[in-house]
Amino acid sequence: SDDHRVTRAANLIRTVLDFPKPGIRFRDITPLLGDVDAFGDVIDVMAEHAPANASVVCGVESRGFIFGTPLALRLGLGFVPIRKPGKLPGAVVEQSYDLEYGSTMLAIHTDALHPDDNVLLVDDLLATGGTLQASKRLVEQLGATVAQIQVVLELVGQPGRDSLIADGVQDLFAMI
Ligand code: PRP
Ligand code: ADE
Repeated sequence: SDDHRVTRAANLIRTVLDFPKPGIRFRDITPLLGDVDAFGDVIDVMAEHAPANASVVCGVESRGFIFGTPLALRLGLGFVPIRKPGKLPGAVVEQSYDLEYGSTMLAIHTDALHPDDNVLLVDDLLATGGTLQASKRLVEQLGATVAQIQVVLELVGQPGRDSLIADGVQDLFAMI
Protein backbone atom coordinates (compact mmCIF):
# COMPACT_ATOMS: atom_id res chain seq x y z
CA SER A 1 0.00 0.00 0.00
CA ASP A 2 0.95 3.69 -0.22
CA ASP A 3 0.95 3.87 3.58
CA HIS A 4 3.64 1.27 4.08
CA ARG A 5 5.88 2.76 1.40
CA VAL A 6 5.34 6.33 2.60
CA THR A 7 6.02 5.45 6.24
CA ARG A 8 9.25 3.67 5.36
CA ALA A 9 10.44 6.61 3.25
CA ALA A 10 9.51 9.11 5.98
CA ASN A 11 11.55 7.14 8.51
CA LEU A 12 14.61 7.45 6.22
CA ILE A 13 14.54 11.26 6.14
CA ARG A 14 16.82 12.62 8.87
CA THR A 15 16.39 16.00 10.54
CA VAL A 16 19.60 17.96 11.12
CA LEU A 17 19.23 20.92 13.47
CA ASP A 18 20.81 24.32 12.66
CA PHE A 19 21.94 23.41 9.11
CA PRO A 20 22.89 25.36 7.04
CA LYS A 21 22.00 28.20 9.45
CA PRO A 22 20.87 28.47 13.09
CA GLY A 23 17.16 27.77 13.46
CA ILE A 24 16.79 25.67 10.30
CA ARG A 25 15.64 22.05 10.75
CA PHE A 26 17.22 20.57 7.63
CA ARG A 27 15.54 17.47 6.15
CA ASP A 28 18.31 15.22 4.86
CA ILE A 29 17.11 12.81 2.17
CA THR A 30 20.46 11.02 1.74
CA PRO A 31 19.53 7.99 3.94
CA LEU A 32 16.43 7.51 1.75
CA LEU A 33 18.46 7.73 -1.47
CA GLY A 34 20.88 5.11 -0.18
CA ASP A 35 18.11 2.53 0.36
CA VAL A 36 17.35 1.08 -3.07
CA ASP A 37 13.98 -0.43 -2.08
CA ALA A 38 12.74 2.72 -0.34
CA PHE A 39 14.02 4.98 -3.14
CA GLY A 40 12.33 2.77 -5.74
CA ASP A 41 9.09 2.83 -3.75
CA VAL A 42 9.15 6.65 -3.70
CA ILE A 43 9.46 6.76 -7.50
CA ASP A 44 6.65 4.17 -7.78
CA VAL A 45 4.28 6.17 -5.55
CA MET A 46 5.08 9.37 -7.45
CA ALA A 47 4.43 7.64 -10.80
CA GLU A 48 1.11 6.23 -9.53
CA HIS A 49 -0.02 9.78 -8.63
CA ALA A 50 1.08 11.41 -11.91
CA PRO A 51 -1.64 12.90 -14.09
CA ALA A 52 -2.45 10.91 -17.23
CA ASN A 53 -2.06 13.99 -19.44
CA ALA A 54 1.53 14.87 -18.38
CA SER A 55 3.71 15.34 -21.48
CA VAL A 56 7.04 16.15 -19.78
CA VAL A 57 8.67 16.22 -16.35
CA CYS A 58 10.45 19.38 -15.13
CA GLY A 59 12.78 19.05 -12.14
CA VAL A 60 14.39 21.80 -10.08
CA GLU A 61 18.17 21.81 -9.45
CA SER A 62 19.60 20.03 -7.53
CA ARG A 63 17.43 17.74 -5.50
CA GLY A 64 14.51 17.92 -7.92
CA PHE A 65 16.76 16.20 -10.46
CA ILE A 66 17.25 13.21 -8.13
CA PHE A 67 13.51 12.40 -8.13
CA GLY A 68 12.47 13.98 -11.43
CA THR A 69 14.74 12.00 -13.74
CA PRO A 70 13.81 8.47 -12.57
CA LEU A 71 10.17 9.55 -12.49
CA ALA A 72 10.37 10.80 -16.10
CA LEU A 73 11.89 7.50 -17.25
CA ARG A 74 9.28 5.50 -15.31
CA LEU A 75 6.50 7.51 -16.97
CA GLY A 76 8.08 7.30 -20.43
CA LEU A 77 8.47 11.09 -20.59
CA GLY A 78 11.33 13.45 -21.33
CA PHE A 79 12.99 15.51 -18.61
CA VAL A 80 13.59 19.28 -18.62
CA PRO A 81 15.97 20.78 -16.02
CA ILE A 82 15.20 24.06 -14.28
CA ARG A 83 18.64 25.29 -13.29
CA LYS A 84 20.52 27.80 -11.16
CA PRO A 85 21.97 30.80 -13.04
CA GLY A 86 24.86 30.47 -15.47
CA LYS A 87 24.44 26.72 -16.06
CA LEU A 88 22.29 26.44 -19.18
CA PRO A 89 24.17 27.15 -22.44
CA GLY A 90 21.26 28.19 -24.66
CA ALA A 91 18.75 31.05 -24.60
CA VAL A 92 16.93 31.12 -21.25
CA VAL A 93 14.19 32.84 -19.31
CA GLU A 94 14.95 33.58 -15.64
CA GLN A 95 13.08 34.23 -12.37
CA SER A 96 14.48 35.39 -9.04
CA TYR A 97 13.05 33.97 -5.80
CA ASP A 98 13.60 33.77 -2.01
CA LEU A 99 14.64 30.67 -0.08
CA GLU A 100 14.16 29.73 3.58
CA TYR A 101 17.86 30.64 3.87
CA GLY A 102 18.70 33.09 1.05
CA SER A 103 17.79 34.42 -2.39
CA THR A 104 18.75 33.24 -5.88
CA MET A 105 17.55 32.73 -9.47
CA LEU A 106 16.31 29.89 -11.65
CA ALA A 107 16.38 29.51 -15.44
CA ILE A 108 14.96 27.26 -18.18
CA HIS A 109 15.89 26.92 -21.86
CA THR A 110 13.35 28.84 -23.95
CA ASP A 111 13.08 25.95 -26.45
CA ALA A 112 12.62 23.27 -23.74
CA LEU A 113 8.81 23.45 -23.59
CA HIS A 114 6.01 24.09 -26.07
CA PRO A 115 2.64 25.76 -25.44
CA ASP A 116 0.83 22.39 -25.63
CA ASP A 117 3.02 20.82 -22.91
CA ASN A 118 1.38 19.68 -19.67
CA VAL A 119 4.21 19.76 -17.16
CA LEU A 120 4.69 17.53 -14.13
CA LEU A 121 6.85 19.80 -11.96
CA VAL A 122 8.99 17.94 -9.40
CA ASP A 123 11.10 18.90 -6.40
CA ASP A 124 12.19 17.07 -3.25
CA LEU A 125 10.77 19.47 -0.69
CA LEU A 126 8.24 22.28 -0.26
CA ALA A 127 9.09 24.91 2.40
CA THR A 128 8.21 28.57 1.63
CA GLY A 129 7.14 27.61 -1.90
CA GLY A 130 9.43 30.22 -3.46
CA THR A 131 11.35 27.68 -5.55
CA LEU A 132 8.24 26.06 -7.01
CA GLN A 133 6.48 29.41 -7.53
CA ALA A 134 9.46 30.64 -9.57
CA SER A 135 9.56 27.32 -11.45
CA LYS A 136 5.85 27.52 -12.27
CA ARG A 137 6.38 31.04 -13.63
CA LEU A 138 9.20 29.81 -15.86
CA VAL A 139 6.97 27.05 -17.29
CA GLU A 140 4.20 29.58 -17.90
CA GLN A 141 6.60 32.12 -19.48
CA LEU A 142 7.12 29.49 -22.20
CA GLY A 143 3.35 29.21 -22.65
CA ALA A 144 3.13 25.71 -21.16
CA THR A 145 0.81 24.53 -18.35
CA VAL A 146 1.69 23.07 -14.94
CA ALA A 147 -0.53 19.96 -14.80
CA GLN A 148 0.67 18.93 -11.33
CA ILE A 149 3.34 19.71 -8.77
CA GLN A 150 4.86 16.79 -6.86
CA VAL A 151 7.21 16.94 -3.89
CA VAL A 152 8.43 14.10 -1.72
CA LEU A 153 8.20 16.12 1.49
CA GLU A 154 6.08 19.09 2.54
CA LEU A 155 7.18 21.03 5.65
CA VAL A 156 4.10 21.65 7.77
CA GLY A 157 3.93 25.11 9.34
CA GLN A 158 5.51 26.69 6.24
CA PRO A 159 3.47 28.74 3.74
CA GLY A 160 4.40 26.68 0.67
CA ARG A 161 1.10 24.93 -0.01
CA ASP A 162 -1.05 28.02 0.56
CA SER A 163 1.16 30.24 -1.59
CA LEU A 164 1.09 27.75 -4.47
CA ILE A 165 -2.70 27.41 -4.23
CA ALA A 166 -2.97 31.24 -4.17
CA ASP A 167 -0.84 31.18 -7.34
CA GLY A 168 -3.42 28.97 -9.07
CA VAL A 169 -1.92 25.50 -8.53
CA GLN A 170 -4.82 23.03 -8.72
CA ASP A 171 -2.98 19.75 -8.19
CA LEU A 172 -0.24 19.46 -5.55
CA PHE A 173 0.81 15.98 -4.42
CA ALA A 174 3.13 15.83 -1.40
CA MET A 175 4.06 12.21 -0.67
CA ILE A 176 5.07 12.93 2.96
C1 PRP B 1 15.87 23.34 -1.46
C2 PRP B 1 14.93 22.23 -1.86
C3 PRP B 1 13.87 22.95 -2.64
C4 PRP B 1 13.79 24.29 -1.94
C5 PRP B 1 12.58 24.36 -1.07
O1 PRP B 1 16.73 23.61 -2.52
O2 PRP B 1 15.58 21.24 -2.65
O3 PRP B 1 14.24 23.15 -3.99
O4 PRP B 1 14.99 24.43 -1.18
O5 PRP B 1 12.48 25.60 -0.40
P1 PRP B 1 11.32 26.68 -0.67
O6 PRP B 1 10.01 25.97 -0.74
O7 PRP B 1 11.42 27.57 0.54
O8 PRP B 1 11.65 27.40 -1.92
P2 PRP B 1 18.10 24.43 -2.42
O9 PRP B 1 17.89 25.77 -3.02
O10 PRP B 1 18.63 24.36 -1.02
O11 PRP B 1 19.04 23.69 -3.45
P3 PRP B 1 19.56 22.20 -3.72
O12 PRP B 1 18.38 21.42 -4.24
O13 PRP B 1 20.57 22.43 -4.80
O14 PRP B 1 20.13 21.61 -2.47
N1 ADE C 1 15.03 23.61 1.64
C1 ADE C 1 14.39 24.63 2.23
N2 ADE C 1 14.17 24.36 3.54
C2 ADE C 1 14.70 23.13 3.76
C3 ADE C 1 14.79 22.30 4.90
N3 ADE C 1 14.30 22.67 6.09
N4 ADE C 1 15.40 21.10 4.76
C4 ADE C 1 15.91 20.71 3.57
N5 ADE C 1 15.86 21.45 2.48
C5 ADE C 1 15.26 22.66 2.56
